[in-house]
Amino acid sequence: MLIIKLNAIDSTNSYLRKLSTVEIVEDYTTVIAKKQTHGRGQMGTVWDSQTSKNLTFSVFKDLSDIYLESPFCISIVTSLALLKTLQFFSISRLSVKWPNDILSGDKKICGILIENVIKQNKINASIIGIGLNVNQTKFENLPKASSLKIISGKVFDLDEVVHVILKNLEYYFLLLEKGQFDVLKNDYEAYLFRKNKPSTFKDEEGLVFSGFIKGVSESGNLQVLLEDDIIKEFDLKTITLLY
Ligand code: BTN
Repeated sequence: MLIIKLNAIDSTNSYLRKLSTVEIVEDYTTVIAKKQTHGRGQMGTVWDSQTSKNLTFSVFKDLSDIYLESPFCISIVTSLALLKTLQFFSISRLSVKWPNDILSGDKKICGILIENVIKQNKINASIIGIGLNVNQTKFENLPKASSLKIISGKVFDLDEVVHVILKNLEYYFLLLEKGQFDVLKNDYEAYLFRKNKPSTFKDEEGLVFSGFIKGVSESGNLQVLLEDDIIKEFDLKTITLLY
């Protein structure tokens, strides 16, 4: 497995994507940057991370031979690999805020940006970008962010953490390859942030409503039990969990 370490780059996701257009990239090729000048988050946001303190990296996953029930499988596998890694490092109160933010308590410690490479109308590969807050201790203007150091008081070796994440990614992709999607989806649902708790959401028109998160559909839609006892499915762009 090839690991490319860079001092600075715009975005490890962009770098790996460009690399994959000019040469054949091996499965699990990983690009780690000490600093990203244009780190990208979900839905067009920016991902800022203190230089050398945290992990900002991307993994190339060849999916040409893997059957995917839906693109959401990649989120499930990545989330589970991260949760298992964080458990290994004794981080407590873990959950996944749909679709794929990793939290400890109500603080975000990890974000995932998955960008797929489509060939002949099929996902051929995925660039899995991971921003994990490891040894940073101050998050100015980000009251909802935390890190492994803040939570545990310990300083972590970044190489060791990446190594465990990659092993766990391999493990969960292997389960997916073996047809274990239902098991993986159940595991993922068990970690859903605010599952079965009264929660408040905002829809795309800004309407605020309440309900209970029950699970996710095969395609990755969030299933919410509404006041009239009906379970409604929402896709990513149509709903925001407020609290
Ligand atoms: C989010 O929570 O909004 C997703 C954040 C993903 C950040 C990672 S850092 C490494 C990779 N390169 C990027 O530009 N983004 C992802």
